[in-house]
Amino acid sequence: MKPIIAPSILAADFANLQRDIEMVNASEADWFHLDIMDGSFVPNISFGIPVCRAIARHAQKPLDIHLMIQSPEHYLPEFQKLGADVLTVHLEACPHLNRTVHQIKELGCKAGVALNPHTPVGLLEDIIADIDLVCLMSVNPGFGGQSFIPNTFVKIKRLKQLIEDSDSNALIEIDGGVKQQNAPDLLEAGADVLVAGSFVFGSDNPSDTIKDLKQVIA
Ligand code: DX5
Ligand code: ZN
Repeated sequence: MKPIIAPSILAADFANLQRDIEMVNASEADWFHLDIMDGSFVPNISFGIPVCRAIARHAQKPLDIHLMIQSPEHYLPEFQKLGADVLTVHLEACPHLNRTVHQIKELGCKAGVALNPHTPVGLLEDIIADIDLVCLMSVNPGFGGQSFIPNTFVKIKRLKQLIEDSDSNALIEIDGGVKQQNAPDLLEAGADVLVAGSFVFGSDNPSDTIKDLKQVIA
């Protein structure tokens, strides 16, 4: 199976957002990955609802919205209204994760749960059957352009096993430090979705870079 490629708009040129969105529209990318940071859950602020709404007006592919924010439950309806397809919350930011996951599903979106690099995959045991996507952070969230944390490979294997054991349909998304060099091994380990920010937008030809990632096979 070919991977789902989700370029992260965090690494786009914010002064030329429409140009970069059109590039993704015309490319072999599958989703737009939008990183929302609140300066509290993570030590950085990215962009919020008005910018997502503007992106949504031009994006012709599903919006995969990664909420790196405290109390995400307060903002879910706004993201749904602007056109979110996948809404991913962090396990570490959700004391009532079951409630939050079901809130996302009742809004008609796919429910994703993200785990920080130190958070054990086993903490998903009692929710995995209810979720559509698990985002394994392969860097500490907050910034693009960081180095991939190799322990992610162990986590992918454990998560794959957990998904199989629980008859879950959850996709495994890898976010942070994804490049052409580690993509084949990530797919081999069981990844379904590859998020790539700086590797795509920092390349000479982002559209070709997306195409190359799409052709990666395990
Ligand atoms: C990090 C974000 C990532 C980031 C990935 O907190 O969640 O989506 O944009 O960027 P790269 O691919 O540059 O590591
Ligand atoms: Zn992300």
